[in-house]
Amino acid sequence: MEKVCSCSFTGLAPHAHLCNLSFPTHARNPKHQLLMEAQLQQLRDEALAEIGAVADEAALEAARVKYLGRSGTLATVSEGMRGLSKEEKPRIGKLLNETRVAVTAALDERKSAIEAEAGARAFADVDVTLPGMAPSRGSLHPITQLQNRAVSIFRRMGFSLADGPDIETEWHNFDALNTPADHPARNEQDTFYLPDGRLLRSQTSPVQIRTMTSCLPPVRIIAPGACYRRDEIDATHLSQFTQMEGLYVDEGVSLADLKGTLDLFVRELFGPEVKVRWRPHFFPFTEPSFELDILVNAGGRSRWLEMAGCGMVDPAVFEAVNKARGDRAYDPERVTGFAFGFGLDRLAMNMAAVPDIRLFIESDQRFLRQFS
Ligand code: DAH
Repeated sequence: MEKVCSCSFTGLAPHAHLCNLSFPTHARNPKHQLLMEAQLQQLRDEALAEIGAVADEAALEAARVKYLGRSGTLATVSEGMRGLSKEEKPRIGKLLNETRVAVTAALDERKSAIEAEAGARAFADVDVTLPGMAPSRGSLHPITQLQNRAVSIFRRMGFSLADGPDIETEWHNFDALNTPADHPARNEQDTFYLPDGRLLRSQTSPVQIRTMTSCLPPVRIIAPGACYRRDEIDATHLSQFTQMEGLYVDEGVSLADLKGTLDLFVRELFGPEVKVRWRPHFFPFTEPSFELDILVNAGGRSRWLEMAGCGMVDPAVFEAVNKARGDRAYDPERVTGFAFGFGLDRLAMNMAAVPDIRLFIESDQRFLRQFS
């Protein structure tokens, strides 16, 4: 015959009382469940009141630890679960959980309120009717502006943009441009070498080689970009500067085409009255070669400014390209071409009467603002 459990007020099914036998005697005390309920209710009331009154995040954290921490009040109360019967456990467990959820929600709510109060306080002293600080407007660097103008003039003459890497092979920068290892021009264009033998290009001329090795004639390109040399830095020299290269190769291209192209370019850039001078010169990769000077006004006195190097592409350059291509696409018996190259930095200095080239790289807003 089964022994009927005394905790009849739980209203549980008659078979449930059997398990009570394995619990400590106090567990069968019906008051135990009531006590836990009361404790939880009290805990909840206390916690919500305390959290609602907390003034800052540190106090809020202290309250969280006090009620929900590992040895906090809720944990202590939940230890009483052990003394409950199997039938009582779900009810009290649910109540425990509800209490935890309610306290957590109160903590979250208070946290948001504290943050909002802090935000409101931060803005309390701000006078929104005061005028703001206008962001300063940037502008293109003077050398970029000059480069853009030059590019647009050549584009109108049918040149397209070409590009090459700043880190070049010796072959592209020198050998293919008819400048062998013992050539004196290598001294004048001493640059920075990488341990693997590559170098920072000393001129934009290697883009001529890259264009011809990858494209069939006719080619008509310009290639602006950075160049590097081991120059002592002073008012007119930097170790990095900007050049613009040009190349036109086709059947029947002549010196007259070169002259016409560059004459038109300088007139477009400086105005129709600009005076130019063509001087014979030497470059390893052009034959004949010239330097183009323009007459500029510096401090009331006029003087000739070296503007560009140029000439007719040397057949040796075509042959180096043919060899690399493995064909005769640039047969010097069939095609001719002209090439030119000029530095943008000195030109920009002259056009804007800038006394020191270093101003271009110092990023001084007072200097740069003048060109906006
Ligand atoms: N690369 C030459 C230099 O840096 C400039 C130059 C001269 C480029 C003659 C050319 C050219 O394309 O034909 O001094």
